[in-house]
Amino acid sequence: MTENTVCCCREHIKLSNDAAREGMVLLKNENGTLPLSRGEKVALFGKGSIAYVKGGGGSGDVYTKYVRSIYDGFMIMEAEGRVCVNERVSEFYRDFIIDEVVRGRDVMGKNAVPEPRTSPVFAKNAANESDTAIITISRYSLEGDDRKAEGDYYLSENEKLLISSVCDSFKKVILVLNVGSVVDTSYFINDDRISAVLLAWQGGTEGGLAVAEALCGVYSPSGKLVDTFAKSLEDYPCTAHFYDSEDYVEYSEDIYVGYRYFETIPGAKEKVNYPFGFGLSYTKFNIFNVKAERDGDEIKVYAMVKNVGNFEGKEVVQLYFSAPQGVLGKPARELIAFYKTKKLNPGELEKICLTFKISNMASFDDLGKIEKSAYLLEKGEYNFYIGNNVRDAEKIDFSYNLEENVIVERLTSRCAPCNLKERMLANGEFEALPQKEIERGYIHAKNSTAKAPDRLMPFNEVKSDADIDSFIAQYTGEELCDFMGGSDNVGVTNTLCFSEQKRLGVPPVTTADGPAGLRLDYWHGIETTAWPCATQLACSWNTDILKEVGAAAARELRENGIFVWLAPALNIHRTPLCGRNFEYFSEDPLISGKMAAAEVEGIQSEGISACIKHFACNNHETNRLQGDSRVSERALREIYLKGFEICVKEASPISLMSSYNILNGIHASESYDLLTGILRGEWGFDGMITTDWGIKNNPVHEVLAGNDMKMHKGYPDDLLAALNSGELTRGDLEACARRILKAYRKLV
Ligand code: BGC
Repeated sequence: MTENTVCCCREHIKLSNDAAREGMVLLKNENGTLPLSRGEKVALFGKGSIAYVKGGGGSGDVYTKYVRSIYDGFMIMEAEGRVCVNERVSEFYRDFIIDEVVRGRDVMGKNAVPEPRTSPVFAKNAANESDTAIITISRYSLEGDDRKAEGDYYLSENEKLLISSVCDSFKKVILVLNVGSVVDTSYFINDDRISAVLLAWQGGTEGGLAVAEALCGVYSPSGKLVDTFAKSLEDYPCTAHFYDSEDYVEYSEDIYVGYRYFETIPGAKEKVNYPFGFGLSYTKFNIFNVKAERDGDEIKVYAMVKNVGNFEGKEVVQLYFSAPQGVLGKPARELIAFYKTKKLNPGELEKICLTFKISNMASFDDLGKIEKSAYLLEKGEYNFYIGNNVRDAEKIDFSYNLEENVIVERLTSRCAPCNLKERMLANGEFEALPQKEIERGYIHAKNSTAKAPDRLMPFNEVKSDADIDSFIAQYTGEELCDFMGGSDNVGVTNTLCFSEQKRLGVPPVTTADGPAGLRLDYWHGIETTAWPCATQLACSWNTDILKEVGAAAARELRENGIFVWLAPALNIHRTPLCGRNFEYFSEDPLISGKMAAAEVEGIQSEGISACIKHFACNNHETNRLQGDSRVSERALREIYLKGFEICVKEASPISLMSSYNILNGIHASESYDLLTGILRGEWGFDGMITTDWGIKNNPVHEVLAGNDMKMHKGYPDDLLAALNSGELTRGDLEACARRILKAYRKLV
């Protein structure tokens, strides 16, 4: 066993707990049910109270030191004299879990045993001994697999029975949702018997403790939803066609994803149970004295936030805008800025200022209704709304008016759809889209004219980026082809390394997953901190904590000799059914981009490379290697790429992972438009690009597209054949090598 000083150290465990606390969302709290009163007798129902799900599976999993279950958390609360836990009920669930584990059954993973069937007498007996029932409902999902409706988004039969028998016996019933993504909320929103609901997510190593602490009032929940919780799964516009084909997904709801759909499309407002940005607290806040002004190319909104309740807590102030409907059509509300206050004591005030660039309100005109391929601000009135969720945000007494349309940025048409027939408009109708031919648009790079040094120059003598070209001149053609693919594991790495070049002294660059924590193989015996799932982190609306989590995770990598963390992942929550939603932040691109940027900043402040992923439109898992995401250029730029754009421009990640899927007819890793045109050309990304792992796409096309590294291994023979036939130039390979080596210079 390695002696660790950083992994799972006390500070990191505490930070994991703090992050879990920040992202807890209180959905319901009738008649002051919560926090629990001192000494309250509680009975913990549900197998998830013992077999707590700390996060999802696959690369988004972590071998952590221990996982504090909700029961464990309550034991700590009991020791502090805060509550009294019904042992008989917990013993039943513990025995059930132990029995199933002994039988070799899965208790909380993909094939988890169902909730045990309990008789109404079980709940009745418990009610004779306890005041309050706390029922935990758990969910688990993982990459490569999408979620299902029954028993996943919706309750299973046994869960329904459990809830109804507990509600029949107890006067006070609290629900804890230990889930990684959006689930059904309709069965409790109007059911008076369930008086409080905590959306606890999957909270990592200390998640169960953070739950118990929230319920006992050690702190007030301050998380806010980063997704819309609709009345039914069918209410999400993409559900109807989600399983239409394994070969493609049509993103025909266009930019109307999440709250942009529910707040805009006629009749959709009524379909919402809990709006985007929603979250209760044990206290109340007033947002007042709101003033706004234009300051050059920015708008500034000032406000005061006051804790007017009796409990300390934090508030998230959210600013939305509405643009004139104009010619292009716009969502009724779009998040433009947000701020989480410090912890405010009862009566305490904080003065805040929200700032954003006017140009960030622009829309992308993909069809040339005003000017083709330009970001523009349409003429008319722009209004602003401030509050603590999208629905309740109040219009402020300030507007921004434009007499004429303003072109903000002229760009080029890229990644245009070749097979998306129509898309939704703001009035809920659909417009036909023109179809393009698939164009790869590869352009060869020029061969470098740099001369190799007279004597062999090893990599550690490359003192500046200017030396890189003469360093590369030393590579033979074969060596270059070899350099474009991953190399063997080193040390404790289990995701293989970015390539080495032994003769020239280029070391292999170690990588590890992400994003739940540093993921090492369990047999190395190194336990690492499990952070709350990405959605929970995003629900914190607290970029400072994301930065801290990033830095702490990076320190765990450094301690283990690993230089690249395959995180954060920031695909958009297009549908509740995506099996990887727990690894991703939000349905909203601003939240996704800001959270990712903060985390990347933290990671890279420790000299470790973040590798943001999966670029782009990997929003479902079914047939993820060959499924075609068919999306308009406007939705691509305003929704699916926007978070990546924010992150790249604000935090300069050293590496980025292209996604498995096809995007409008071309695999993301082979898309020149996406990787070279948009990412490098428009946004100025100067890091290296790796494929996702084990991908079999055409390696020659990948080099031509600007995808530098093929993981987990390359296809050097194919590249060499292409070099010899002239399909690839030496310059094409040198361009990739240059970007890889520039990235390495920042790390090793
Ligand atoms: C996942 C990536 C992950 C990689 C390496 C792939 O299956 O999609 O997110 O980083 O494996 O484990």
